[in-house]
Amino acid sequence: MRRMADPLRAEEITLRDGRKVVLRPARMEDAESTMRNVNRIGREGIYIMVEEVPDLESERRWLEEFDGVRNVLIVAVDRGEVIGAADCHAGAFPKDRHVGGIGIAIQDGWREAGLGRRLMERILEWMRARGFAKAELAVFATNVRARRLYESLGFGEEGVRRRHVRIGDDYVDENLMGLWLGP
Ligand SMILES: CC(C)(COP(=O)(O)OP(=O)(O)OC[C@H]1O[C@@H](n2cnc3c(N)ncnc32)[C@H](O)[C@@H]1OP(=O)(O)O)[C@@H](O)C(=O)NCCC(=O)NCCS
Repeated sequence: MRRMADPLRAEEITLRDGRKVVLRPARMEDAESTMRNVNRIGREGIYIMVEEVPDLESERRWLEEFDGVRNVLIVAVDRGEVIGAADCHAGAFPKDRHVGGIGIAIQDGWREAGLGRRLMERILEWMRARGFAKAELAVFATNVRARRLYESLGFGEEGVRRRHVRIGDDYVDENLMGLWLGP
């Protein structure tokens, strides 16, 4: 019988541009590095809700949630530094426990080399192994690159929250997307 790979494995992958990064679950010792990662992307101001994690304590509290059972954070690491991350949180109620909400953020300089796809695939692999029936996420309508990635993975649009995010002086729609993983 062929054994399933452990979705929480540490694995070195090669990006399209030849650079190598390690994909693995985050650890508490990563806190400063995961905080730098999210803050760099947050400061760009156009892709994610978070603009700045206020302090290391908040980042540590966030990292503590990830038990690898109901929630997971997979990081992409270059020479000890987190350069991208993808997380999944299970629904909190009996009625939505089968759903996992995904977030992903890769730093400038590491994009469009295949890492986003690899991180998403690893999160979905973990979700299938854990028996989730549905993946969901929210993406700003202006984020065409992210939307294409999700569509190519099979996500479909499930709704639009009109003018839900303020980006600079503009009110931008937020698209809700979902992917059924269940029977
Ligand atoms: C969105 C993001 C996760 C995509 O990851 P990535 O590593 O840049 O993308 P990949 O190289 O894996 O490309 C995946 C797919 O995205 C799409 N894509 C990539 N670049 C694109 C571009 N410039 N225009 C349109 N689609 C694009 C393609 O469908 C591509 O498919 P391919 O594998 O056939 O080439 C990453 O760019 C990122 O973190 N951006 C900043 C933060 C962010 O937007 N987070 C998501 C919030 S919802």
